[in-house]
Amino acid sequence: MKVVTTLEELWEARAQLPEPVGFVPTMGYLHDGHLSLVRCAKRDNRSVAVSIFVNPTQFGPNEDLENYPRDLERDLSLLEAEGVDLVWTPTAEVMYPPGFQTWVEVEKITKLLEGKYRPGHFRGVTTVVAKLFNGVQPQRAYFGQKDAQQARVIQQMVRDLNYPIEIVVCPIRREPDGLAMSSRNTYLTPEQRKAATVLYRALTAAKKAFEQGERDADALRKIMEDTINAEPLARLQYVSCADPDTLEELHGKVDKALLSMAVFVGKTRLIDNMLVGTGKETF
Ligand code: PAJ
Repeated sequence: MKVVTTLEELWEARAQLPEPVGFVPTMGYLHDGHLSLVRCAKRDNRSVAVSIFVNPTQFGPNEDLENYPRDLERDLSLLEAEGVDLVWTPTAEVMYPPGFQTWVEVEKITKLLEGKYRPGHFRGVTTVVAKLFNGVQPQRAYFGQKDAQQARVIQQMVRDLNYPIEIVVCPIRREPDGLAMSSRNTYLTPEQRKAATVLYRALTAAKKAFEQGERDADALRKIMEDTINAEPLARLQYVSCADPDTLEELHGKVDKALLSMAVFVGKTRLIDNMLVGTGKETF
């Protein structure tokens, strides 16, 4: 496994990789969710490249950039064990050289859902992912359904900018009690960790109601809202029942939907989602 930092090192190592190359962008502190993307990439491609970069431009001023968990040694040994061929760990200077002033912005769908509460977040994501794609030049790139809107936004960017890259979206990996795996789960105290299952419980309750015939968008949102509000350690930021394609909020009768939410447990902001009525687990 080659580990590179500069663009020159990356280009040289990339040129040696047998194609197709599958690429998994990450911010590190890897867990089984990230590794499931690596395994998908391994299955589909002759080579696998992974990037580890905690991207400052996708964090808001009051978000957790400074405290974001990091453990490069551990990450590299996990990736080595998965049989990854190339790891790119760029520095902030490589990604944002002095005088940096070029941004990639997807317009409409970045203003909804997460975009309402994290202004500028997706501009940071699309800009860094575009730069990572330019560096790695993969044939395929792997994203998690965990960050459903991010996956949609990247699909849109790739279409709009004519990137010759297939975007593959992989299912959400969960802990045995349903909590979606996330690097941010490490912020939770044991008590908060128990309460954090409320997102999964709320989504499951709404999904079950949908499967039993409940088709009203407001009713589905209310089921999720009531479940979250019944958990004293949780504070709801939003619940959504949205069109899986446009991410627009739905009203009245729905036949398929992306159910999603953001919930604070203590100071930790957790997100989760489920698709209903699409016959698929992922986009
Ligand atoms: P990060 O949060 O490290 O996530 C990297 C990838 O892992 C994303 O595609 C995310 O959706 C996926 N992932 C995280 N938890 C998952 C889970 N429980 N199950 C399945 N997949 C999961 O997302 C980012 O980094 C950044 O925004 C990035 C795309 C790297 C740009 O900076």
